[in-house]
Amino acid sequence: MSRVPGRSSTALLAVILAACAAAYGVVAGCSSGTDRGGGGTPNGQSGAGKAASNEPVVIGHYGSLTGAQATFGISTSQGIRLAIKQANATGGINGRPITLREYDTKGDAREAGSVVTRLCTNDKVVAVLGEVASGLSLAGAPVCQEFGVPMITPSSTNPRVTVVGDMISRVCFIDPFQGLVCAKFAYEHRKARKVAMLYDQAAPYSTGLAEEFRGAFEKLGGTIATSQTYAEGDPDFNAQLTTIRSAEPDIIFVPGYYTDVANIAMQARKLGITAPLLGGDGWDSTKLTEIGGPAIEGSYYSNHYSQQDPSPTVQKFIATYKAEFGSTPDGLAALGYDAALLLFDAMKRSPSLGGKDLAAAIATSKDFHGVTGTITIDADRNAVKPAVMLEVKGGAPTYVTTIAP
Ligand code: PHE
Repeated sequence: MSRVPGRSSTALLAVILAACAAAYGVVAGCSSGTDRGGGGTPNGQSGAGKAASNEPVVIGHYGSLTGAQATFGISTSQGIRLAIKQANATGGINGRPITLREYDTKGDAREAGSVVTRLCTNDKVVAVLGEVASGLSLAGAPVCQEFGVPMITPSSTNPRVTVVGDMISRVCFIDPFQGLVCAKFAYEHRKARKVAMLYDQAAPYSTGLAEEFRGAFEKLGGTIATSQTYAEGDPDFNAQLTTIRSAEPDIIFVPGYYTDVANIAMQARKLGITAPLLGGDGWDSTKLTEIGGPAIEGSYYSNHYSQQDPSPTVQKFIATYKAEFGSTPDGLAALGYDAALLLFDAMKRSPSLGGKDLAAAIATSKDFHGVTGTITIDADRNAVKPAVMLEVKGGAPTYVTTIAP
């Protein structure tokens, strides 16, 4: 999965571009920085506002539909599909229907880079939604930037993602905030003074959130007793957990993705560790409790929305989603839905569907009323929003509190 440190992203892009040229035999199709509003592309040619035709507006989504992060992509995809269905029922983009091209990243950074290249060159999408995992968005974003195709990540929280360039924005909060939220929760709400950390050393999301948490928790007066690492998919966490057990922490901070977190929880309980685990949005999956069972009960994580939020917007979304897919939407479904609707809103406001116009329209989104809160894209193309803290209780995420920026 997210194995793309920043320094190698340029090299990766070169590989992708070469692969793209080889795969499609058209170097011209890979030319960089083209303004897709300039004509010649099936989707970018007509003004967004003024529908010159009723040709479909094609958007792309790249996500993990299989592998250890499969629920991330599936939920996001369903959220996006619901948004498209609703938008098309009310006239699409000024009369043009919206259609979706979607590819599985399999939780792999190389795959992410290559499918985004495909979306930009072969499918000539007007905009790209994805990825969830920050490491995969860091692989896809340089490709979108290079081709001048706006990308909105619904859920990648690592700050570096939108730093890639002006084509890239997001509808979620970022990890300096999420780290602070977790630190405040540990220190103030749980009265924790001594915390152990266990994070994925190769995932930008995990390393970034661990660092943000450390900074915030120490500033509050707390101590990080020990800091341990793992690699995604590790079967055995005994060595790290044994060290953590001797440190006797009040809380164990595990900013990872759900499959590893659930395994860590089970092994921790086997070793007799009773301290609650605490993590970030990467825990958000029904698989967390399916795999973790009783071991993950009483642990906490921060997230973008709570299913228990009584607001009519949230409850209406949950009811519609359930009717459509037969399951309760997680945070990623909500974020995918919000990202898509915010994109459609920007398309309607944009003078054209060309990359530059559309990216500018996205970047000036203001007070957009989403399921995950009110979204205003700031100067760095990030969203500033509150986070919720959830407790795993009776096998389900249960609302504890909201922490505002
Ligand atoms: N924020 C995570 C990342 O950047 C992805 C994520 C978001 C996972 C929301 C689950 C829920 O990698």
